[in-house]
Amino acid sequence: MKVIKTQNYETLSKEAAKIFIEIIKKNDKAVLGLATGSTPVGMYKELIEANKNGLDFSKVTTFNLDEYIGLSKDHDQSYDYFMHDNLFNHVNIPEENIHLPKGDGENPEEDAKKYENMLKESGGVDIQVLGIGVNGHIAFNEPAEELKVETNIVNLTESTIEANARFFNSEKDVPTKAITMGMGSIFSAKKILLLISGENKKEAADYILRSGKIKTECPASLLHLHPDVTVIIDKEAFGE
Ligand code: GLP
Repeated sequence: MKVIKTQNYETLSKEAAKIFIEIIKKNDKAVLGLATGSTPVGMYKELIEANKNGLDFSKVTTFNLDEYIGLSKDHDQSYDYFMHDNLFNHVNIPEENIHLPKGDGENPEEDAKKYENMLKESGGVDIQVLGIGVNGHIAFNEPAEELKVETNIVNLTESTIEANARFFNSEKDVPTKAITMGMGSIFSAKKILLLISGENKKEAADYILRSGKIKTECPASLLHLHPDVTVIIDKEAFGE
């Protein structure tokens, strides 16, 4: 696990974008694994800038990590809406190259299987960006005794519902279930970039970077087992 410490969120975003841009420059057909949450937004802004300055996205393919169950694509808190708002509407990625798990299907379990198959058929994600939950979750793989391998349906924890309530009118509007890539789906990416920003992530960051241990109760700590992970962390999250 390679660790890059940055002074602040702005430099974290620039460093992360640099790595993504490098991959796209090397392979214009790169398969990008994307994430939601506030953390990657700065990196997406940098990618939009790069696109304006000539970086071509017309052949890339994208796969997002997760989606809330019960929200349609046009709900303004769906991850589909978020990704269009923060990235897809501003770069030249063809709509048919964009993939997000379906949150409002009749049969979510079936949709999860289909998504996992699509991911496999894509030939694998070249680079996957991840944020991290306050409780150490990645995508919506919540701390638990056992973690799922493939894309599946999860119940969100109280802590995650609370943390994500800031985006909704009230906590009771936050969906209680989500469809998420599993740990195996995430680990099948060739390269993983974990972004950790802000003081509220310090406890999880401490466990991952200082304890020398891994546990399923902190899903992000398992990233120590992947051969190519870069963590970019700002001073607030890393501490002294
Ligand atoms: C959600 C997403 C995660 C994301 C996390 C942290 O729960 N499912 O993929 O990492 O939020 O979000 P933020 O970056 O806003 O702290």
